[in-house]
Amino acid sequence: MAEDVFSQRTVTCGALTKADNNKNVILNGWVHRDRNHGALHFINLRDRYGLTQVVVDDDASTELQDVAKELKLEYCIAVIGTVRLRPDSMVNPEMSTGEIEVKAEKIEILSKCPPLPFQIDDGKDTREDLRLKYRFLDLRSQGMQQRMKLRHDFIFACRKYLVEKDFYEIETPTLIKSTPEGARDFVVPSRIYPGKFYALPQSPQLFKQILMVGGFDKYFQIARCYRDEDSRGDRQLEFTQLDLEMSFVKRDDILTLMEGLFGQVFRDVMQYELPVHFRRLSYADALNTYGCDKPDLRFDLPLSDVNELSEKSSFATFKEIVGAGGFVKALCAPKTEGVEFSRKYITELEDAAKIYGAKGLAWIKVGADNALSGGVSKFFAGLESELVSKMDAKEGDLILFVAHENWKKCCASLSAVRTKLGKDLNLIRKGFEFCWIVDFPLFEYNETEGHWEAAHHMFSMPQSQYLDTLESDPGSVKGDLYDLVLNGYEVASGSIRIHDVELQKRIFRICNFDDETAEERFGFLLNAFRYGAPPHGGIAPGVDRMVMIMSEQTSIHEVIAFPKNTAAVSPMDDSPSTLDQIQLDDLHLIINYPKEKE
Ligand code: AMO
Ligand code: AMP
Repeated sequence: MAEDVFSQRTVTCGALTKADNNKNVILNGWVHRDRNHGALHFINLRDRYGLTQVVVDDDASTELQDVAKELKLEYCIAVIGTVRLRPDSMVNPEMSTGEIEVKAEKIEILSKCPPLPFQIDDGKDTREDLRLKYRFLDLRSQGMQQRMKLRHDFIFACRKYLVEKDFYEIETPTLIKSTPEGARDFVVPSRIYPGKFYALPQSPQLFKQILMVGGFDKYFQIARCYRDEDSRGDRQLEFTQLDLEMSFVKRDDILTLMEGLFGQVFRDVMQYELPVHFRRLSYADALNTYGCDKPDLRFDLPLSDVNELSEKSSFATFKEIVGAGGFVKALCAPKTEGVEFSRKYITELEDAAKIYGAKGLAWIKVGADNALSGGVSKFFAGLESELVSKMDAKEGDLILFVAHENWKKCCASLSAVRTKLGKDLNLIRKGFEFCWIVDFPLFEYNETEGHWEAAHHMFSMPQSQYLDTLESDPGSVKGDLYDLVLNGYEVASGSIRIHDVELQKRIFRICNFDDETAEERFGFLLNAFRYGAPPHGGIAPGVDRMVMIMSEQTSIHEVIAFPKNTAAVSPMDDSPSTLDQIQLDDLHLIINYPKEKE
């Protein structure tokens, strides 16, 4: 008989119930657990659908018993047997198949497995590189199986929603002209044209805009994007966006579409009801109130401006900073069972603030009847009740201050303190808190290069009231830009786009691209805009980040089947790797290795 003939499953490992009693079945799967109690041999057989308990009885044939003895964890096997009810005492209500077991009549070993490099399902205790090297084993774990299902369900639900709303899914190329969007491009050398390169897209941005000019007024794509930047917990070199674009729309059309989309997707995939509309915060309010443009709204802990109080105080540091046009902001950490606001803990908070530029973190403890003690309390003598009421503080609370000449740094450092307190004081509510951040500045100044650049990308529309002052005062221009934030992560970004050649060129010039360079780099977009470009706008949620948050993970590696590690390496296939000389010659490449550091 040919080697490849095996007993093919008649049912999966998650399907059998009481109703199947006495049925003859064939199961295929992996040995998940193997308990040999002398006479009785129990095997938990696993596939994608679940676990089924297989029993080799003591009266089994010697042949069957011999095969059963040979089994090891993760052997892939076929079991031929009969379904029977478990004795009442053995019923396992946790398992969908917990009421039955399969009495084995024959076991075929389909393939063997050497001793495992780590316990599957033990992901947390296993070094990540080992999990990534043996990703095929890691993917068998319950966690990875569930997360891959969630990812699939998420993408499917998005597609379904958008298709029902008349969107077309259209692919855009992955070998394109290098048109930097913010990060560094990955490039692919051309064999046919020596010295020329394709770039991998950082996103389908320009192509989706050109699709709008092409008349496809509702487009989406599950798009792979490539950015040569440092990996972090929520970043990968290649990642996936739900990229979409629409013509003849204004900002609120896109926001409403996304609220409807995520409302439906969370209902379908998680049975979770989101509010019909998400909260909206302007960029300035987000920074003032939460210190950052991606606030975690699962807890409150707002920041307050205490410039006025600081001026009235006798604390020279604060008075000087306010006098010089700077900012003093404060937040009130609530008294919490089991957390002591000790010097050591306050130093930890201060260290978090210092990462973002704070020079210190001043503090005051609140006692009974508005009494203040410790830290900089003595400088607020006479201002006790004013401070306590401003901060809405209660007995046992801790007030924390950052003073800085720079508003953004003042906000960012106190935001880091807020984030740490949220975790340490257990303030974070369960669930999903979306919010829109709108009215972003269009430009930011690049101190190192000494020119303005786009805060998001160069294709976003300035708000109309700034059209006359773009060049004279770029710093104050707000764009028709929006970010979607979920539980403290930026999960999507988008904007209403420019569709006018002259306006687009003005933006390029402000961002230090003269007309010639702009034509050379982005000529194909400008050219398209000359041919009746419709007003348009769009957005792109990051699929990996969304699924990471939905599955309550803190690393996107957990929701990507084959991610790179934080050193940008894939331990399984060992990429990146060298090319042989023939390949290099074909591509006309000579490698200029960096000198070894002494
Ligand atoms: P942006 O660059 O903000 O916008 O990206 C949109 C969303 O993609 C996700 N994302 C990432 N996810 C994982 N790893 C990365 N390295 C990474 N970088 C970004 C984030 C982010 O919010 N073309 C524009 C969108 C538009 O204007 O329509 C764009 O790419 O969730
Ligand atoms: P000093 O007067 O430098 O001894 O600082 C007294 C307290 O104020 C210390 O707790 C410092 O951490 C804090 N502090 C100093 N500078 C700042 C600042 N710019 N913002 C907030 N706290 C500060």
